[in-house]
Amino acid sequence: MNGEHYNANISIGKFIVWAMLSAIALLSSSRRLGNTGQLIDRIASELNIEVVDLASQRISSYDYDHRNRNDDFEPLMRRVLAHDQVIFATPIYWYAVSPAMKVFLDRVSDLLELPDLLSEGRRLRGKKAYVVCTSIGSDPSVTFVDAFRETFDYLGMHLGGVVHLSCQDGYLPAVHDTEALKFAALVREATRSPAG
Ligand SMILES: Cc1cc2nc3c(=O)[nH]c(=O)nc-3n(C[C@H](O)[C@H](O)[C@H](O)COP(=O)(O)O)c2cc1C
Repeated sequence: MNGEHYNANISIGKFIVWAMLSAIALLSSSRRLGNTGQLIDRIASELNIEVVDLASQRISSYDYDHRNRNDDFEPLMRRVLAHDQVIFATPIYWYAVSPAMKVFLDRVSDLLELPDLLSEGRRLRGKKAYVVCTSIGSDPSVTFVDAFRETFDYLGMHLGGVVHLSCQDGYLPAVHDTEALKFAALVREATRSPAG
């Protein structure tokens, strides 16, 4: 094999790896390096994927009149839509998602309502969605997980998996890394067999 051919194969190989691991994580917590932030960072470093901190984005609440179209929601959504797998990372605050995660999910309605965004909304169909969450309870409540499940169902997305860590004493790598790595392996496996 000559040098040029070999280099082309390496590039194609890189592209295949990139395509297989096409995932992005959206994090929303009241502290970037808190329990949820540390958990998603561990997962993201395993998968070599981007974590978007919703706190760094200027995304305003849902507006029936859509007077907020010049904020960061649409550019962020285009970044999200470039991936096959979307990981939603949030702490459980009062049995529900964090406020910025709720605002983000509410804004997804824009994709279902604005004629020029309908085609973008349809691109959510078939994507895999994951939930990464922390709380001080032993498990997330069924209603917490179901709110995600039903939202994904509505959007035509498939719930690929949920990981919850009980962080009464904070994120403890010695205790929690195993679960984080197990979850990363699940996402990695799913990206290799998209139909799975
Ligand atoms: C405002 C607030 C509300 C919370 N509500 C709950 C709750 O409903 N159930 C629970 O188990 N833990 C609750 N917790 C604990 C957090 O879920 C837990 O400490 C989580 O790991 C924090 O993640 P973070 O460091 O990313 O904020 C709450 C914490 C805060 C600050």
